[in-house]
Amino acid sequence: MAAAPARPTRSTPAAAIRPHVIQGGMGVAVSSWPLARAVSLAGQLGVVSGTALDVVTARRLQDGDVGGHLRRALAHFPVPAMAARVVERYFRPDARPPGLPYLPVPKLGLRPSARATELSVVASFAEVWLAKEGHTRAVGINLLEKIQMATPSAVLGAMLAGVDVVLMGAGIPAQMPRLLDRLARREPASVDVRVDGATTGYEVGVDPQAFTGAHDEPLHRPMFLAVIAAHVLAVHLARDAATAPDGFVVEGHRAGGHNAPARGRPVLTDDGQPVFGPRDDADLAAVAAVGLPFWIGGGQGAPGQVRRAREAGAVGVQVGSLFALAEESGLDPDLRGRALADLAAGTLEVRTDPRASPTGFPFKVARLAGTQSDPEVHAARERLCDVGHLRVPFERAPGSVGYRCPGEPLAAYVEKGGDVADTEGRTCLCNGLLADVGLAQTRRDGYVEPALVTLGSDLDGARDLALRHPAGWTAADVVDHLLA
Ligand SMILES: Cc1cc2nc3c(=O)[nH]c(=O)nc-3n(C[C@H](O)[C@H](O)[C@H](O)COP(=O)(O)O)c2cc1C
Repeated sequence: MAAAPARPTRSTPAAAIRPHVIQGGMGVAVSSWPLARAVSLAGQLGVVSGTALDVVTARRLQDGDVGGHLRRALAHFPVPAMAARVVERYFRPDARPPGLPYLPVPKLGLRPSARATELSVVASFAEVWLAKEGHTRAVGINLLEKIQMATPSAVLGAMLAGVDVVLMGAGIPAQMPRLLDRLARREPASVDVRVDGATTGYEVGVDPQAFTGAHDEPLHRPMFLAVIAAHVLAVHLARDAATAPDGFVVEGHRAGGHNAPARGRPVLTDDGQPVFGPRDDADLAAVAAVGLPFWIGGGQGAPGQVRRAREAGAVGVQVGSLFALAEESGLDPDLRGRALADLAAGTLEVRTDPRASPTGFPFKVARLAGTQSDPEVHAARERLCDVGHLRVPFERAPGSVGYRCPGEPLAAYVEKGGDVADTEGRTCLCNGLLADVGLAQTRRDGYVEPALVTLGSDLDGARDLALRHPAGWTAADVVDHLLA
């Protein structure tokens, strides 16, 4: 018989969640629980990244679960046997010796095995639980609409830990309100999944009762913020109660990570970066007219931006890069140190790469020696798809689905009906981003996956902070700086 669901901390009613600063959810595990917790403790909204937490958790356990944090969190998981199975499968008390490849975790799919769902639920539970440990302030989780097949289980895990806010971008997150409503009532819930060439409908779902046993008490229904780039999307989503979020983060093209493509015919600068123009800036007055709370993201790191955002009708700002460079960030200390040194020297460059991401969205890449921003490092990497979070399902025949990613080996992609032109310039974000947070895979031949660091292109706020904190800064310093 399953134990009652853990209530590690109370969850905050949506109406009470109006922070001036949202710390952006930065995947993979840059916004890990220590960063989110520090921001929440500083009185703002800390957000964990929900992307690929299954892989992150499995690898942290293999690295010996330093500090015992994961096992401490998992001791509170509502179904102890499930948490125990995950620990049993991946935990290495003696830590993985250098050079030994990490174990693979099940790849995302439309019919996830019980083992895959279990790992995903347990992993996002632990990340949120740790971010909420020991305080009662709000904590959010960020998910990507593009990675649909991971969504139901990741959201359920976060809700079991009492997550207060779910944020989702990288697509049109129209299905999230319904998913949250159903999971809060502990009803089986699913999302429709886009399958290339589909002649029939496909979905992926999760049944909360399998993770909590039969209970009547609802789970806390988190607030939902849609991350959008265009005001028309705010209007569109808010029009129907079934798709209306509880608010928006309106994010411009200076933001770190993925950006929405520039509007109109694609135009590139001489060095191959997409040209953004005034049409790419959302009409904030139109967003305000929708009547839901909103925050402005992307290049909002300079002092005074919070005030300016509020004058434009926003509740506050969402900031990523400044927090990515803070002490509590999950970014590998060596990479973070090098980025800070380049920042101080005035040589840190961030490019908008229209091709790097297999998703097809423009992706911000920070130029750092030894990472995949270096063409030689990129060229030397033999393609391999062993994580697969960005694989897109396609229909082989009605009811039969395959998965492909333009970052995978060319022959495999083409064999699956992919267009070779789609593969040009693509980087394996899964492996690159895992390497950013000290979880690089080592291949059997000893090759260690190189990092690929993303940051926003407006680093004025970061330069300001670097002058005031030459030895580095904390999340609380960022909050002070933003509210100054
Ligand atoms: C390292 C890094 C990783 C990011 N990953 C994600 C992500 O996984 N999902 C997402 O919605 N936004 C992601 N972002 C965007 C941030 O959440 C935030 O909205 C953005 O960085 C704000 O712009 P700024 O960097 O100019 O402050 C990422 C940003 C950075 C810097």
